[in-house]
Amino acid sequence: MNIILKTENLSKRYGAIQALDGLSLSIPRGSVYGILGPNGSGKTTALGIILGAIRANSGSWSWFGDEPGPEHLRKVGSLLEKPNFLPYLTGERNLKIVADIRGTGYDSIEPALVKTGIYDRRKSNFHTYSLGMKQRLGLAAALLGDPEVLVLDEPTNGLDPQGIYDVRQLIMDEARCGRTVILASHILDEVEKVCTHVAVLSKGKLLAQGTTAELLKSADVIEIAADNLDKLQSVLEKNTLVKKIVRNGNILELTVDPATPMERITEPVARAGLSATHLLRRATKLESRFLDLIKGDN
Ligand SMILES: Nc1ncnc2c1ncn2[C@@H]1O[C@H](COP(=O)(O)OP(=O)(O)O)[C@@H](O)[C@H]1O
Ligand SMILES: [Mg+2]
Repeated sequence: MNIILKTENLSKRYGAIQALDGLSLSIPRGSVYGILGPNGSGKTTALGIILGAIRANSGSWSWFGDEPGPEHLRKVGSLLEKPNFLPYLTGERNLKIVADIRGTGYDSIEPALVKTGIYDRRKSNFHTYSLGMKQRLGLAAALLGDPEVLVLDEPTNGLDPQGIYDVRQLIMDEARCGRTVILASHILDEVEKVCTHVAVLSKGKLLAQGTTAELLKSADVIEIAADNLDKLQSVLEKNTLVKKIVRNGNILELTVDPATPMERITEPVARAGLSATHLLRRATKLESRFLDLIKGDN
């Protein structure tokens, strides 16, 4: 059983707002699966549904290959947007309450406090915690009971750069121990650094899904021009290394893999009797790939 979570056509509407629109995801065991999308794209709604906190209007999902039920959710630790703890109890006491509710016992409390870096402040009341410490306590709560799957909604929210770094390391460590992590984030850089797989969401719709390497792989753009632009274009269209051709005035912009040697582009052009009057190569940023994907949906 290699798919931990599968959703089929999940949809959710709030009045006039289609928060989720036919979302189908397959999350492999052992992956760090990023759900990447701008604010309002439906990430929190999707996580709320699979955790049983929000009712979908239509669609279905399965955990561990089964109809979802409470026995599955016991194997899932989660951190949703705002961790809810009791302000006048200590961090440790709050975790005990969570452990009681989830029936996990207290053994995993200390390791969770240590991993998330709040062990030293475990005896302080929750209301005295900084935003970052509150977020860390939320993560510690998600780790209680050694869950097979962690579901984290924007886990680095409110953290300073050190905290962001620590949380990303923690996620990668947990994944190395074999835990599957489902991570919603609007931060491209975070998903790129941490996730093995990514689903790109915009306005409740899935735009793309795959491994991070495939989807967010950077590309090079080669600008090329020649006197006979039509002939140049037809030569380049036959070159399988050229992924995309965009005509920009008198210049063709070719998208190629960064590993593509320049000669593999220019030699067939020369052989066709054309000489390039303009030739320039530049790298595109991941950011622009992501923005391209999202823009296509508008
Ligand atoms: N309880 C709610 N009532 C009305 N609209 C909501 C509610 N929750 C979310 N929405 C709307 O649904 C859309 C998706 O929201 P959300 O799932 O929170 O997106 P994300 O987590 O990607 O920022 C947004 O337009 C949001 O305003
Ligand atoms: Mg959200």
